Amino acid sequence: MTWEAWLEVVEEVAPRVLGPADRRGDALAAEVRRLSELYTRERHALDAAAAAHAARLRFFFLRDLPKIEGPLAELEGALPEGPRWRVLDVGAGLGASCLGVAAFAKRRGVERVEVIALERDPAALDALEALARAAHRRGLVPELVIDARRADVDGLELGTLPKADLVVAGFVLNELFRDRDEVDRLDAAEGLLRALVGRLAPGGSAIVLEPALRTEARALQALRDRLAAQVYAPCLRAGECPLTRRERDWCHAALPLELPPALAALALRAGLRASRLTYAYLTLRADGRRLAGYEDPRAVRVVGGPVESKGKAEWDACGAAGLVRLRRLDRERGPDNAALDGALRGTLLRLASAPEDGASVRARAGVPIERIGPVARPGT
Ligand SMILES: C[S@@+](CC[C@H](N)C(=O)[O-])C[C@H]1O[C@@H](n2cnc3c(N)ncnc32)[C@H](O)[C@@H]1O
Repeated sequence: MTWEAWLEVVEEVAPRVLGPADRRGDALAAEVRRLSELYTRERHALDAAAAAHAARLRFFFLRDLPKIEGPLAELEGALPEGPRWRVLDVGAGLGASCLGVAAFAKRRGVERVEVIALERDPAALDALEALARAAHRRGLVPELVIDARRADVDGLELGTLPKADLVVAGFVLNELFRDRDEVDRLDAAEGLLRALVGRLAPGGSAIVLEPALRTEARALQALRDRLAAQVYAPCLRAGECPLTRRERDWCHAALPLELPPALAALALRAGLRASRLTYAYLTLRADGRRLAGYEDPRAVRVVGGPVESKGKAEWDACGAAGLVRLRRLDRERGPDNAALDGALRGTLLRLASAPEDGASVRARAGVPIERIGPVARPGT
């Protein structure tokens, strides 16, 4: 992740787009902390979040920018072909998702990215356009055409929008349909996701990112169960999501990235983590294509851990059969289970044999575990 260059982009546009709302130092850290609390604990007060412009631009935009690269990396071999990518960004905000796509596309040699950005906040769209121009001047994104449309996506007729190679909805689903009860919200969210899949051009993918929080991730799991036939990732199984069984579980992934020093310092001052970028996600397709490893009885995705205790480490993993516990004693660390070193939520593994639902698998010599699937390396 070329974070330093993106920090310069933000530094360039912030004074103009923030004006008197710009913040630095303690005032910025306080605003980041307050906005984080709104996002995590007081989601009913989200409207107030729109006002925290400096925190959004100077911290959350930069922190969230690489997250889309996790799901994009898993689309290796199933990404849009050709030199021009058409992107629909729903609830685009400052553009962390569509600009993240553009940065990824640039590194793959894509020449032009055309974005339709739907967002109800005109100030956010203004910032998005300024960020896109500044990023292009620095060579961080290819030629970028932004069609910024002020729109309320709750109830919007999407059928008239042009088809897109990639549809992204970054951290917005949980902000929609808030005036409805839980069942109605889920129905409305399902309707929206089906409509977004309906906007995909042949071979296209829709990526939904959500906060790695219990309620939001579990809502995405419920949607995953309803849309199982369209799910490309993260799931390796057709059956219901086993992480819905226990209320305390939720499915999310982590990128093994450290924030750059300036952002890490801000995160710590605001009481936030400076490493491991977490998110929940769902990648949907209309063509029934599946992630490599799908329904492979030996393939699993790490969904919990590592939990290290005296002399051992344990991970939870999800695969075709259901949930599996992987256990490795420290003294049995070796080449056959080296793939477990550094395995985080989201890592894909292939076990030596097919486990049953609820099985406990002991990693040891002669029982090889291998990494499978692409690993997201934002910025490379
Ligand atoms: C948390 S931000 C995420 C922004 C960006 N997508 C990202 O990936 O970082 C959510 C955005 O969704 C927008 N939003 C919320 N409800 C909306 C609605 N009903 N219609 C359009 N935009 C909406 C908010 O204004 C905000 O900019």
